[in-house]
Amino acid sequence: MTKPTVLVTRRWPAAVEQKLAAHYDVELNRSDRPLTPDEFREAIQRYDAVLPTVTDKIGAQALDVPKAQTKILANYGVGYTHIDVEQAKTQGIAITNTPDVLSECTADLAMTLMLMVARRAGDGERELRAGQWDGWRPTHLIGTKVSGKTLGIVGFGRIGQEMAKRAHFGFGMNIIVFNRSAVRPDLLATYGATQVATIEELLPLCDFVSLHCPGGAENAKMINSRRLDLMKPDAFLINTARGEVVDEAALAQALMFDMIGGAALDVFEREPSVNPMLSQCDNLVMLPHLGSATREARQAMGLRVLDNLNDFFEGKAPRDRVA
Ligand code: DGY
Repeated sequence: MTKPTVLVTRRWPAAVEQKLAAHYDVELNRSDRPLTPDEFREAIQRYDAVLPTVTDKIGAQALDVPKAQTKILANYGVGYTHIDVEQAKTQGIAITNTPDVLSECTADLAMTLMLMVARRAGDGERELRAGQWDGWRPTHLIGTKVSGKTLGIVGFGRIGQEMAKRAHFGFGMNIIVFNRSAVRPDLLATYGATQVATIEELLPLCDFVSLHCPGGAENAKMINSRRLDLMKPDAFLINTARGEVVDEAALAQALMFDMIGGAALDVFEREPSVNPMLSQCDNLVMLPHLGSATREARQAMGLRVLDNLNDFFEGKAPRDRVA
């Protein structure tokens, strides 16, 4: 029997590439160069499965081909707002993602960012590497205590819950949650958390606000100047969700005028470009979208794609089918 043809759009962990190659007629991207929109269009007409990732924009144009050969877009990553879901559905193309396996590592990174910005770790490292450290003194690089403070979590899915676990059990933080749907009371109770009905209600109560909601049009610029204004003047904003959730111009303004204590970002509106206004803010920590960047998570993400693909081509329902 001929094996399904599969295109992997970027380099993946070597062990997963090998497994894929053992099961499928695979085209790997050894140069790791991102595909162009035309190449995506061509791929949709040529391969049985395309395995994109979160930085591959697969819009309506790429999918609107006269005869799609692709039956499944098995995405490497949990977010899939880079894919035009409606157009994929019109073409009868299934979409899967890779939830669960990156939740712990992404929450670990959100904690990293929260601690870095509160304790001025970025400032300290820059000073030290620049050879400007002139020794311990009682007033040097004074930050903000994290333990025991109040953390607002926006989006209480798997990653939001992992964040609550770390903050509550590790740092004795008080947890407040905003989530579109009602969170089960027993789940809230596990983390000693309280759910509020609106973001407006959450923001003024928190010392730290961490975003864990999906991106896409629905949540675009959810954190805007009006909502930044609602935060305490010494509170910190953490974003490991999606860049578009925060209005970066409004955030830069809030940081420049010390309207909030600081912010820490792992994701940006126009990755890999960073708004030059943000780069000027000292009370901001920035990382280059590292949320799931551990050996363990990246390998597990690849294996999860493989599971989805195997199920699909064996005629079973893939566990992570999102469309
Ligand atoms: C995702 O999976 O959506 C992340 O942003 C990358 O791990």
